[in-house]
Amino acid sequence: MSTLYPSVLLVALGSAEEQAQCRTLRVRDEQSDFIATNAESLEQAADSPWCEPLGVRAVHTGEMVGFLMHALDPDENSRWIYRLMIDHRYQGRGYGRAALRALLEHLQKMPGGPGVALGVAPENTGARRLYACEGFVETGELIDGELIMRRLLA
Ligand SMILES: CC(C)(COP(=O)(O)OP(=O)(O)OC[C@H]1O[C@@H](n2cnc3c(N)ncnc32)[C@H](O)[C@@H]1OP(=O)(O)O)[C@@H](O)C(=O)NCCC(=O)NCCS
Repeated sequence: MSTLYPSVLLVALGSAEEQAQCRTLRVRDEQSDFIATNAESLEQAADSPWCEPLGVRAVHTGEMVGFLMHALDPDENSRWIYRLMIDHRYQGRGYGRAALRALLEHLQKMPGGPGVALGVAPENTGARRLYACEGFVETGELIDGELIMRRLLA
């Protein structure tokens, strides 16, 4: 049996209006310790030449349903997924998985090594499950209290 996932587009947040829309997106209250606010992330991206912040747009409605951000680690020459969030109103509908898959495809076309990594809070069981399903493996590394998970892009 095949499972259908919603199509998403990853969009650059070029205009002030898109950035404002992105800032309104929120996770559930009980998830707020797992991720910075989008306003904080956009500020961080503005200060870093390595970060690319992207909105997650649902193709069938055109609505912005989430946000993600990746960065190149120039020392490791690997990609890091710094943020992935789906607004609380749209969670549980497959957008998180669709956004992660779209990001991995996007990263394959970018310069850099074949590795991609991320950090996740140990108690964030939903995200850990999603990442494990998509081929990320916990390496045993712990950075700032977060479990590091890695996979190859190809
Ligand atoms: C993690 C997150 C992005 C998932 O987005 P989502 O759109 O709700 O996820 P999906 O509907 O695509 O679900 C994909 C898979 O994730 C896992 N998952 C997501 N939420 C889960 C939950 N509450 N409990 C258990 N598993 C969960 C499941 O494996 C699910 O697949 P399944 O439905 O086939 O079992 C979203 O919950 C979120 O924004 N969380 C807050 C921010 C955050 O923690 N980001 C990660 C930081 S590292």
